[in-house]
Formats: sequence, C-alpha cells, structure tokens
Amino acid sequence: MKTQVVIIGGGPSGLLLSQLLDRRGIESVVLERKTKEYVLGRIRAGVLERGLVGLMEEAGCADRLHAEGIVHDGTLVSHGDDMFRIDFTELTGTPVIVYGQTELTRDLYDAREKAGGRIEFEVDDVTIHGADTDAPQVSYSVGGETRRIDCDFIAGCDGFHGVSRQAIPLSVRTEYEKVYPFGWLGILSQTPPVHDELIYANSERGFALCSMRNSKLSRYYIQCSLSDSVNDWTDEAFWQELKRRIPATMAEKLVTGPSIEKSIAPLRSFVTEPMRWGRLFLCGDAAHIVPPTGAKGLNTAASDVHYLYDGLCEFYKAGSSAGIDAYSERALNRIWKAERFSWWFSSLMHRYPDQSSFDLKMQVSELDFLRSNKAAQTAMAQNYVGLPY
Ligand code: APR
Ligand code: PHB
Repeated sequence: MKTQVVIIGGGPSGLLLSQLLDRRGIESVVLERKTKEYVLGRIRAGVLERGLVGLMEEAGCADRLHAEGIVHDGTLVSHGDDMFRIDFTELTGTPVIVYGQTELTRDLYDAREKAGGRIEFEVDDVTIHGADTDAPQVSYSVGGETRRIDCDFIAGCDGFHGVSRQAIPLSVRTEYEKVYPFGWLGILSQTPPVHDELIYANSERGFALCSMRNSKLSRYYIQCSLSDSVNDWTDEAFWQELKRRIPATMAEKLVTGPSIEKSIAPLRSFVTEPMRWGRLFLCGDAAHIVPPTGAKGLNTAASDVHYLYDGLCEFYKAGSSAGIDAYSERALNRIWKAERFSWWFSSLMHRYPDQSSFDLKMQVSELDFLRSNKAAQTAMAQNYVGLPY
C-alpha cells in the first residue's frame, strides 16, 4: 500500500492533521492502536485557544464547537477566601472556548468518516522503517495480518507512550523533564458547575480547580499526594476537601453528586528535541507534555499540527521543503513558551512538599502582584488564551 502521509495515532493531533491535509487533497492513513470507542472514552481538558478554534474551522469541523462550546471571557483565581478575576477578553481581545476534548475528537472522527478517510483501528506492532531515508515505510499488524505502507512522510501523533519518539535515535534526541511531587484527583459529575467560569484555587491545603464540560456536567480537581489511589477517596471525601480549598462563598453554592468518572493523573513537564528526524515528524503528546494547570496539552498539539500542515502543504503544493525543514524549530519555539507558562502557573497555584516559609511568602506575593497589576494579568491572559502561531 502507498500513501503520502502515514499518521500514527488517532487522537486529536492525528485526526486534526489528517482532516486538514484531506481538505487540501493530501492523502493520509491514520493508524490507531485502540478502538474509536476507547479513544472517545478518554476524559481530557477542553479549554480551546483561538488558534485551535481556527484550525477546527479550517478543517470544516467547528459547527458543533460553536453551537455547544461555552465562551469564557475570563477566569477566577483564588487564594483562600480571596478571589479575583482575570478578564481575558478585556486584556487580550480574545476569549477561550470550553468544549470537551472528547467532543472535539468526536467531531474529527465524524468528519474523517464522512470524507472517507482511511483509519485503521486496533493496530499492533507499528514499526517505522527508513525514517531517515527518502522512502520511509510503516509496518503494522491488524486482524492477524501484517501490512506495510510506503509513504513520503510519517507524522508521529501517538502520544507520550507511542513508538514514534523512540524511533529517533538517542544520539539525535535530547529529552527535558520535570516530574511534579503531586497529582490531580479529578471527578466528573452530572451537576451544574459551581460558577459560570473556571476557578483556579490556591489554598493552604493545596490546589483545586472548578471546571466544566457544559451546564449540566462539571469537572473538579484537587491536588493530591502521588501515593494516593482513587480508592482512598470516596466521593464524599472529595467534595469535603474541595469545599475546604475553594472560597467559602463558592463552597456554599457547590452542588455535589455521584462521580461518573474519578481518576488520578500525575503531572509532568516534558519536551523532546528535535521534533523531526528525516521524514518523521512528532506532533502533540508524542513530543511534549505539560502539567494540566494551564490547559495547554491539546492546544500545543494544535500548534504543532498547524506548523506541520503548513509545511506539508508547501511541500506538495509549492514544491518547497522550507516549511518542513523549519517545523521543529517553529514548533519548539512555541512549545517552550507553553511549557514555561504551565510550569509558572503550576508553581504559583500548588503547595509543594518542600516549600519553605520563604517560598510560601513568594507565592503569596506573586498572587498579590497578579491580583493588583494589569501588566501581570495581561501577561497571564495572553498565555492562557494562546500566544500567536
Ligand atoms: N500505534 C498506534 N496508535 C498509537 C500507538 C501505537 N504504537 N501508541 C499510541 N497510540 C494512539 C493512542 O491510542 C492515542 O489514541 O495514539 C493516540 C495519541 O493520542 P493522545 O495521547 O491524545 O495525544 P495527541 O493526539 O497528541 O493529543 C494531545 O490529548 O492526550 C491529550 O493531554 C493530551 O490534551 C492533549 C492531547
Ligand atoms: C478541565 O476542564 O478538565 C480542565 C480545565 C482547565 C485546566 C485543566 C483541566 O487548566
């Protein structure tokens, strides 16, 4: 079999890239290890930057996003019972849209199926061959049959645990990592959100976040120990702890209910350099991970897709490799800014086991500066709504 671009991974990165390429007549095949139902079952953040919204519009997949997505002009930040608001739209001219990643992925799957896009599910043994040659190939097995695809390019959109990053020799790649000394315990509940915008809460008991999927589906997180397990936390224990971390005026209005999903996620900052090796390009979580504090995971995957899509179109339509040659540098330039913001916001809002009393004073002082200084709020807002591509 032959195609122009083999895309390994049928998550948001792979699907968005495949759909965008298809709209420009560039053929791709998506290889996904899991079933579509499994992929759509993942619960992930859904705060969309303006750039991602634009890409979904360009992909012809933004109708439901605009119909059901919730425009957020700002967010609340709290410290104990003290609260202040960062007004994204006033400070940057741009809001964010809250729209679950599951829904965005569903829209992309629907579009690929409508376009007759080639997606192979439940593939195994995906192996990259000759990425550093002009005739790369990808082999894989499906239904007990081994197949091989000849292609021009390979997009490694297979996430942090995929095979693509590992295909780049250790002698070529450099990895940067920070593992945070805590996790996030998250709950999804069919309850109305406590507030119409997100609340990022710093409290002496640790971080908490009040988010949502829609007006009837809420998503809440509390910082927890890495030694915790989900079984350590009854729903009631979660709600009680959340109420102790958010401002009292919000805790009073919190509507609790049974969790329909409850999980603990570790927090990590991670970047691989370079994001290209020969005809292999890494996109999204395959190349980088951010702590979820700044809601940048999906949005940095989107900017990678933007740069790679641009470069591949330039190659196929204008016969120039300038775009693909610049891909890694362009993508990394924006990724490191998102890594910094996510690290900064995590450092500002969480309690660290080894924090000294001086460290705590620094954190409180920075929160106070963010509350009272327009330039600080503008910088935060610009990063949150998304730096330019
Ligand atoms: N072969 C084929 N598919 C694979 C393989 C493999 N060897 N390994 C992983 N995959 C698939 C996974 O099953 C998953 O569906 O690749 C996909 C990768 O999707 P994500 O992990 O969602 O990564 P990405 O598409 O880059 O999206 C990044 O999604 O995971 C969130 O926090 C992340 O919000 C960010 C966004
Ligand atoms: C979420 O809704 O899951 C969410 C929102 C914002 C974040 C992280 C997670 O920063």
